[in-house]
Amino acid sequence: MSIITADSIVKSYSMHAENDTPVLKGISLSIQRGEFIAFMGPSGAGKSTLLHILGLLDSPDGGTLHYELSGETFTHDALKKHKSAELRNRYIGFIFQFHHLLPEFTALENIMMPALIAGMSMSKARSKALSLAEKVGMMHRCEHRPSELSGGEQQRIAIARALMNDPEIIIADEPTGNLDSANTISVLQLIRSIRQERSLTLLIATHSMDVARMAERIITLRDGVISSEVNTQSGATQ
Ligand SMILES: Nc1ncnc2c1ncn2[C@@H]1O[C@H](COP(=O)(O)OP(=O)(O)OP(=O)(O)O)[C@@H](O)[C@H]1O
Ligand SMILES: [Mg+2]
Repeated sequence: MSIITADSIVKSYSMHAENDTPVLKGISLSIQRGEFIAFMGPSGAGKSTLLHILGLLDSPDGGTLHYELSGETFTHDALKKHKSAELRNRYIGFIFQFHHLLPEFTALENIMMPALIAGMSMSKARSKALSLAEKVGMMHRCEHRPSELSGGEQQRIAIARALMNDPEIIIADEPTGNLDSANTISVLQLIRSIRQERSLTLLIATHSMDVARMAERIITLRDGVISSEVNTQSGATQ
């Protein structure tokens, strides 16, 4: 069953009023529930733009997006912005290359944030955040501010934060792009174990073949279109 179906997604950025730059030029894909997909391709190919659109952080200029989340079907259109924000917060967790933790809050408060935004009580959010901090091996750093944590530790906190609302989909944009090789491996192992445990749908943009190899499908974007798709399980190429 598809959790996301994208049909002919197009997106341009207008740098000058008369001159739109097309970034996505008609992307169609169907993402199965529980699937792990890696998006690859050169810098500027449109990976982040596509992940932002699939994650309801941004709207396409054309094409359709269809979601099946917790039995609810939802077709994205620009008129339903409010609904998109609600679905995004409820069902989608994000992990970015530069973690985007809030500097003035502690690690634990950062983990709690999505649940507080969704209306969970402070005490419930706190106990859930503590159990996630334990899961990502960060119990001992809960009261630290992000600036007092290493890059790998910050990314672990960002992963815990992404899990706070029990998302069905995790979108990770170069989650290890800023880490050294030891931290890359441990963060990847963490993402992999969480995914297996929770049967999440996982969409990762990456420049690393080591990361992509862990995925079931590798979709390569080039100049705003899908230039190839490889099913890593069967080795089939399209
Ligand atoms: N907010 C924006 N305004 C204008 N142009 C943008 C904006 N965001 C992205 N672009 C342009 O869109 C194109 C695709 O960018 P995108 O960030 O999706 O690429 P990417 O594949 O993620 O690249 P990278 O591997 O470097 O992260 C680039 O040419 C970029 O300059
Ligand atoms: Mg990018």
